Amino acid sequence: MIVLVWPARADEGMWLPFLLSGKQYNDMVSRGFRLTAEDLYSVNQASLKDAIVLFGRGCTGELVSAEGLLLTNHHCGYSRIQQHSSVAHDYLADGFWAMQKGEELPNPGLTASRLVRMQDVTAEMVKALNPQMSEKERSEAIKKKGAELAKKAVEGTHYEGEVKPFYYGNQFILIIMEVFKDVRLVGAPPSAIGKFGGDTDNWMWPRHTGDFSIFRIYAGKDNKPAPYDKENQPYKPEKFLEISLNGVSEGDFTMVYGFPAQTEQYLPAVAIRHLQQHIYPLTVAIRDKELEVINEAMASSQALRIMYAARQAGVANGWKKLKGVIPGLERYQVEDLKTAEEKILRGALDIFPLGRDEYIGVMEEYNKTYSSMLPYDVWQTAFNECFWKQPLFRFVFKGYWLPGTDQKNDKGKEAFDKTIEDIVKSISGTYKGMDMTTETRLMAALISEFTARIPDERLPYALKDAKRRYKDDYTEYTHQLFAASIFRDSLSAAAFFGGWKPSSLKKLMKDPVFRFVTGIVDYYRNTCQPEILRYTTTLDSLHRIHMRTIMNFSDPEMLYPDANSTLRITYGQVKGSEPRDAVRYLYRTTLDGILIKEDPEIEDYAVPGRLKEIAAPQFYGPYGDQGVMPVAFIATNHTTGGNSGSPVLDADGRLIGINFDRAWEGTMSDLHYEPEICRNISIDIRYLLFVVDRYAGAGHLIQEMVIHQ
Ligand code: ARG
Ligand code: GLU
Repeated sequence: MIVLVWPARADEGMWLPFLLSGKQYNDMVSRGFRLTAEDLYSVNQASLKDAIVLFGRGCTGELVSAEGLLLTNHHCGYSRIQQHSSVAHDYLADGFWAMQKGEELPNPGLTASRLVRMQDVTAEMVKALNPQMSEKERSEAIKKKGAELAKKAVEGTHYEGEVKPFYYGNQFILIIMEVFKDVRLVGAPPSAIGKFGGDTDNWMWPRHTGDFSIFRIYAGKDNKPAPYDKENQPYKPEKFLEISLNGVSEGDFTMVYGFPAQTEQYLPAVAIRHLQQHIYPLTVAIRDKELEVINEAMASSQALRIMYAARQAGVANGWKKLKGVIPGLERYQVEDLKTAEEKILRGALDIFPLGRDEYIGVMEEYNKTYSSMLPYDVWQTAFNECFWKQPLFRFVFKGYWLPGTDQKNDKGKEAFDKTIEDIVKSISGTYKGMDMTTETRLMAALISEFTARIPDERLPYALKDAKRRYKDDYTEYTHQLFAASIFRDSLSAAAFFGGWKPSSLKKLMKDPVFRFVTGIVDYYRNTCQPEILRYTTTLDSLHRIHMRTIMNFSDPEMLYPDANSTLRITYGQVKGSEPRDAVRYLYRTTLDGILIKEDPEIEDYAVPGRLKEIAAPQFYGPYGDQGVMPVAFIATNHTTGGNSGSPVLDADGRLIGINFDRAWEGTMSDLHYEPEICRNISIDIRYLLFVVDRYAGAGHLIQEMVIHQ
């Protein structure tokens, strides 16, 4: 008998396409879906999954033509568009359209990966494990066995294989991917369309962002992945998506097919409290300061605006999301909900002692672990935000790997030369993305944040000393630090590392910035990292037991594993919502709304002149809907980061939109999904086509697609 501890709420769930259960499939059909499960995923014939790719590492894209044309979000292509931009060719500001294939721009390092197949290999994996293993032995055994299975699976093919844990290591799945390495930029609207609303509207509904960009996959003569080569041919996909111009109405079935990156749906109550009360607010507060400095720099010149655009977008995006997650967790009392679920689980164990011995003490252990971990997690979070993720800090830290700066690292002359070479190679790229005045300001602001949030007795020496001498204005401090440093600018760094001689090591070790950076990292490694490692190891095993217990008492057909960048299906319906007292969200926005939002004084709300010229029914043609031009819509699909760029499909599997965001009120859905409030936001495919055709005049791209009226 099964006690339903974990009843997935309506519309909740990110399902594995190859394990789509009868219950899920029937539910999809009862809500209007008209295809078979084989149409979605098949290893015997081309299926919809073959038209979906993991775009880069963190987004989704979909193929929409027989010539490898690929759609994704503008923000997914953003850093690529930025790399091709300069003050003379500002593609971020003006957009970019290749009018023929020869003009499409290569993007070194960018990949698009198609899922070939997935296979449950739990039975084989557990043969390599036993309950007596320590957590460390266990994870080593998993790594070894996983690598072995993956290697065997791709032998003699050009595919890449990996075994990934699901349900905190209660299940293992082998994933075979085909990774394309020549992906070229075909088109992008100006940011005033692709990022319309900017950070002001980010994570919010109503939304009017034309958040799309267009790429093309190229392959070798044999249609297989190949590194960039001028002679490569447009990839001929096994399957590409056909497009529907029928549009969406409230209540319509929709599904999103893509690569959601990470969720934590099964955390215990105490973990929710830990995040909600400590880690998230700390992250938000530090980023407030970080953004203040970056935004000011960006407002000061066009060159700095381009230079910092992608970095700023990334920082602001996470910052704003958390500002929505925290009140969402409060409003739905997620911690209390989890506590109630845990009580039900304990009650169930009293009646059916399935795995009870193992579960006894798990909750106490959880409480103990989170409470003793807190100061370390706060330290690590502040360290990551203020220092570790900063490009300049990371660059300086590269020198740490030179043997001699840390005796433990002495791996001989070869390693030494390689480190120097690596540093020299990265100098120009690193400094090109940084304005040193801004960077010193940023560092001063972040030192001030760090020292204000970490108790004095836990500060590394350099920071303690700086705090004593400079109180809380570190402008003078960072100035002095850099003025005397070889890292002060690209020329000086290049001269120093390029002309490396035996005496250089001594000079490096005396460099004020180098000492500052390595002092902080050493402190982290000695006092914080080992503790964090110990706690996360404990948590790994607690999560695994907690998850297994939930699994024991749930209907397996209704349970889904947390997102982990593997291909998932989520389905629901087009639907407005009531996010706040007396406020109702309608399900779609229109081009008229863009004109109403227009404000030439505010950059986020600037509207291109050309868009205004064509904002009239006679230009909408087949893309319009009874005289209006739909722009975006919301639905109840359970999505997360990584689903950006995912195709939104109708009941016949035709493309009706591209997912790009969620509504703020429901961003806590990574921890807890509420059907009433959680909404994904998609660009209406008709607006995309309208912009490509009528705004950009790139009708040749439309010609490639299969479009149903
Ligand atoms: N919030 C969306 C996502 O998480 C879009 C981010 C890009 N837009 C921006 N204004 N930063 O990726
Ligand atoms: N914009 C997000 C992404 O880059 C999707 C929004 C979300 O987190 O749901 O994947």
